[in-house]
Amino acid sequence: MPKKKMLKLIFEPNIIYEGILTTENNEGNPHMASMGFSFNDEYDIVVRPFKDTRSYNYLKNKGMGVINIVNDIELFFKATYGTASKSDFFPSYKLKIPRLKESNFYIEGRVKKIDENEVRASFILEPVYVYAKKTYERPFTRVEFAVIEALIHSTRIKVFMEMKLYEEVDRLVSLIDHYDKLIRRIAPNSKYTRIMDEINKIVDSNLKFKSDH
Ligand SMILES: Cc1cc2nc3c(=O)[nH]c(=O)nc-3n(C[C@H](O)[C@H](O)[C@H](O)COP(=O)(O)O)c2cc1C
Repeated sequence: MPKKKMLKLIFEPNIIYEGILTTENNEGNPHMASMGFSFNDEYDIVVRPFKDTRSYNYLKNKGMGVINIVNDIELFFKATYGTASKSDFFPSYKLKIPRLKESNFYIEGRVKKIDENEVRASFILEPVYVYAKKTYERPFTRVEFAVIEALIHSTRIKVFMEMKLYEEVDRLVSLIDHYDKLIRRIAPNSKYTRIMDEINKIVDSNLKFKSDH
């Protein structure tokens, strides 16, 4: 199946997913870091490392990287704070740069454009190879957790209103507001923002109850 066609079946454009970016430094040593990634409307990969990271330097110097899609939280922890050894990696299929041994699903990308500001860069990578085993993981995205959190909190508002626990109500409203903003940032104009619109309406109608009493 053509690469981009496959990516379109799995990912929605402009939603931030979480993966582990593997790169190679000038000495040929592998590096891994937890990294958000998304696809633009053309289904090129977008990654946005801060400029003080090694990932930024290695991606810029080598012009290639691999997005490993895994949903093992321990691996994310290790990629963020742990130390990697060479035995954690295999060479990727096409570009022969490090990819995680454990990943059943990875995308090799070649940098085709870099936009930078003072603190952060936006790398656009052309997907050159997609490796997916028959059973592969779905990527994490913060948006699903955020919607679930907002949904749960919204169900408690009516109860707390009835109990006149207004401080608790305010706390929940501010949490929901926090998740609402997060969802609009990481998944703009998506089914998730539409669900949040519905949740907000329900929350508003439950809050009206307050002024009636
Ligand atoms: C889920 C998750 C997503 C992350 N996304 C990004 C990101 O998009 N850009 C970034 O610069 N750092 C991101 N980080 C933080 C980096 O993984 C962390 O700073 C790491 O140390 C990168 O630095 P390094 O390349 O020097 O190792 C993320 C961390 C986690 C846990």
